[in-house]
Amino acid sequence: MTRLDLKTAGESHGRGLVALLTGLPAGLPVDLPSLNADLRRRQLGHGRGDRMKIESDEGEILAGVRHGHTTGAPVALLVWNRDFAVWQADMAAHLAPGQEPTRPPLRRPRPGHADLAGGMKFGHYDLRDVLERASARETAARVAAGAVCRQLLARFGVVLRSRVLFIGSASAPAADLESRGPLDDVWQTIESSPVRTDDPEAEAAMVSAIDAARAEGDTLGGVGEVIAFGVPPGLGSYTSWDARLDGALAAALMSIPSVKAVEIGDGLASARLPGSQVHDEIVPDSMRPYGAGRASNRAGGVEGGVSNGEPIVLRVAFKPIPTLVRPLGSMNLDSHQSQPAHHERSDVCIVPAGCVVAEAMTALALADALLVKFGGDHLDDTVAAFEHYLHRLGVRPHGSV
Ligand SMILES: Cc1cc2nc3c(=O)[nH]c(=O)nc-3n(C[C@H](O)[C@H](O)[C@H](O)COP(=O)(O)O)c2cc1C
Repeated sequence: MTRLDLKTAGESHGRGLVALLTGLPAGLPVDLPSLNADLRRRQLGHGRGDRMKIESDEGEILAGVRHGHTTGAPVALLVWNRDFAVWQADMAAHLAPGQEPTRPPLRRPRPGHADLAGGMKFGHYDLRDVLERASARETAARVAAGAVCRQLLARFGVVLRSRVLFIGSASAPAADLESRGPLDDVWQTIESSPVRTDDPEAEAAMVSAIDAARAEGDTLGGVGEVIAFGVPPGLGSYTSWDARLDGALAAALMSIPSVKAVEIGDGLASARLPGSQVHDEIVPDSMRPYGAGRASNRAGGVEGGVSNGEPIVLRVAFKPIPTLVRPLGSMNLDSHQSQPAHHERSDVCIVPAGCVVAEAMTALALADALLVKFGGDHLDDTVAAFEHYLHRLGVRPHGSV
């Protein structure tokens, strides 16, 4: 990222999480209720654990917003951990006189987590020092910052949506979303589904797959899809490897804990097909910039590292989460005896919540690319540059040509 920068701080059971977002223009209205709505969406989904019943996340703005608008200064956001109340002795920055930790040091690393490698790297005896920061609780801070980015994107007509395609072997229908009814209704149904699908049969299959995994003390992964509508052509660049939009999107999404693969458009499937079945033919379309439309969107809205004006379609594969109620084999690092891995209260399936995190990371990468292209210290400057660009493309501000 070259214009925006996001840093987060905070531990899973510490006092709270902080996001520091720099590079936003001044003058962007920031709506706290919709930021909090995104935080709530991250906590939903069938398969979440008891922790999410304790945490009812709410964001606070610490800095960078005054009287509802960004000032151009760094934006600092805070999400408290309500769970800290019962973790104070274990997570306090300093122990009070006479105060003792209540939990023993974590010495049975969990396969699939950063516990072992992180302990080696930083030399921690108590692997809780790894667990606490490596935990995906941190993604609450990303979603808070991502919510501000999506509010910026909305000003430029970019809207992000997400849905679940698979949970384990239970899958959503392959048919295009458009064929499933008016798009607004379809997205509304997805938002109210506990597994982020609009298909009742798929929903029932996914819910029962999660319930079966829970009953077995196991976990399930899956695939989510993020679609960015309204992205103008020309974000990202083919001129340098590190300016490519696909690279930025993939890096943002791969950074989400438990994400093991990212696909843009037809991605993996396209590697098995001849070129004639992969690329999107250019067809005359008087409604599109340069009068050029597309017969399909298999590329997923990015060609040569540049957005091409089609919806950007991203698929994200989440592994089954690694903390199991029936723990995997591990060892005690003190006794060197084989022992089951440490178990911590945990989710069973995070794919629906992971989709919301993936939306946030997509928003961050797209907002960065948009600000790189249009610049501006005040939002009005950014909008003016955007409108000038639309004019050059022959698009009138309301979107028609
Ligand atoms: C929203 C979200 C919630 C998660 N919750 C858990 C959890 O409760 N238990 C768990 O073991 N892993 C959970 N994970 C996944 C782990 O954080 C992740 O697998 C782990 O940090 C190792 O990182 P890696 O999978 O990227 O290698 C969650 C991931 C996300 C995105």
